[in-house]
Amino acid sequence: MSVAESGHEFIDVEVIVNGRTVRSRVRARQHLADFLRQELELTGTHLGCEHGVCGACTVLIDGRTARGCLTLAAQAHGKRIETVEGLSGQGAFARLQDAFIGLNAAQCGFCTSGMLLTAYELVSEKVPRTRNEIRDYLSGNMCRCTGYHAIIDAVASVLAEVAPA
Ligand code: FES
Ligand code: FES
Repeated sequence: MSVAESGHEFIDVEVIVNGRTVRSRVRARQHLADFLRQELELTGTHLGCEHGVCGACTVLIDGRTARGCLTLAAQAHGKRIETVEGLSGQGAFARLQDAFIGLNAAQCGFCTSGMLLTAYELVSEKVPRTRNEIRDYLSGNMCRCTGYHAIIDAVASVLAEVAPA
């Protein structure tokens, strides 16, 4: 339902966020990352560029990575959203988290949640990949700290476990 209030247009949405059904009235122009961070206090989804370049805002929508800064909250109506908070400590995501820590693939951590979500999507496919393929898959996520090598190492180590060549 679309409602006009105090000069803004609002839309009623229902989304499943990390397994929990959430109903909310959102501003028509509010993007999904702001909705997650401001309304649901899921601040693990970061905002860097806010125009689709850096990947810090990556979330899963119906199991596929998406830019939280380029997706309107209203577009998420009826969809299943997963964030770093929901996946943390479980299954392959936990293995990636351990590998990132163990191989120094997280430094300041700003890119890390988006990087982990993209890596999780890749690892979930359970297809062996070369380092160049991993690098290519993660190329939409920017990191200012690590130089990427440690991140590739971490993802490759988990992929070698779940999808041996
Ligand atoms: Fe969304 Fe940079 S904040 S891509
Ligand atoms: Fe700092 Fe990637 S760890 S931006």
